[in-house]
Amino acid sequence: MTNILRKTIAVLPGDGIGPEVTRAAVEILQDCAKAFGHHFEFREYSFGGAAIDACGAPLPKETLAGCRSADAILLGAIGGPKWEGLAFGTRPEAGLLDLRKELGLYINLRPIRLRPSLREISPLRPDRLEGADFEIVRELAGDVYFGKHELRGSGMEAEASDVAAYSAREVERVARYAFGRAAARRRKLTSVDKANVLATSTLWRDTVAALAREYPSVTVDHLYVDNAAMQILLRPAQFDVILTGNLFGDILSDEAAALAGSIGLIPSLSAGRPGQPALYEPIHGSAPTLAGKDVACPLGAIGSASLMLRESFGLAAESQWIEDAIDRVLARGYRTADIAERGKQVVRGSEFTAAIRHELRAASAGASPVSS
Ligand code: IPM
Ligand code: MN
Repeated sequence: MTNILRKTIAVLPGDGIGPEVTRAAVEILQDCAKAFGHHFEFREYSFGGAAIDACGAPLPKETLAGCRSADAILLGAIGGPKWEGLAFGTRPEAGLLDLRKELGLYINLRPIRLRPSLREISPLRPDRLEGADFEIVRELAGDVYFGKHELRGSGMEAEASDVAAYSAREVERVARYAFGRAAARRRKLTSVDKANVLATSTLWRDTVAALAREYPSVTVDHLYVDNAAMQILLRPAQFDVILTGNLFGDILSDEAAALAGSIGLIPSLSAGRPGQPALYEPIHGSAPTLAGKDVACPLGAIGSASLMLRESFGLAAESQWIEDAIDRVLARGYRTADIAERGKQVVRGSEFTAAIRHELRAASAGASPVSS
């Protein structure tokens, strides 16, 4: 019997397909609250391009304050062609980076799990996929993302620079998290850098190697990022937890998502100090061309809700209840367009969510109802 929890969730739908996939995730969380007797209060805030349109800035003060006072944050996606012409630092993306910075979110976890029914949509041959199940821990608050960006001059006189910087402290705090994840899984950590060229990577490697002494149960490998990109395609099963910097993590996680079959499938957790609210979002973008057509896959967002239940609220059974329902819906052959192999039944995004909710109801009908 789990405890009855009372939680406030800040919801930032954002742009493009953000609002529709977020709505799906909120519905699933509402179903969870009802089935298990929890009380989730949802507070919606404007963010990204939508906030630029509504109040002139991608991260309005009320949004930041709402996020700070919530127990967890659910984010859809931000950005789109409408705001691409805006000056650097005023675009929707700047709102996301500011939010990560303001909330001190230095950990980004991206689980790469291949769902059994979706093996066929992976571009890799089944024999190479065997046993592939890993997590990417991406540093989220430093690196070239947060150094000074400069663009000077014009035409052939133009010059640009982006400063990449890391401190040992920044590397160590995210590495500790990754070691902890690995210790609780298959006890293998692969740290990814470019230490043959970059000073930040040399610091990264030295810091991770020194910390490894505190985790004798975890085996540590160091790979250069170019090799890591290749290994993810050649032998994905060799990985358990991949730890890497902000830029490399951004790139490798899209590559790894392709292995799972679609970027639409992958959830993420962004966290800082324990006790601070964590943020959950699908790793896909706002996909402006799909927006409003009810074709987007809601699984990245629903997976993010499930991750929230497990990681922020300690509700492992509730999270599993959702994961199992997703697997059953996929096993029945339901697919959104992006994950449909030939001969499968393509349904709209909202129909896909409805099918999951149907499975959830069927699963709780057997269990004893919780009243509150
Ligand atoms: C991601 C996104 C963001 C990033 C963009 C939208 C700024 O690609 O979360 O992976 O680069 O971190
Ligand atoms: Mn990305």
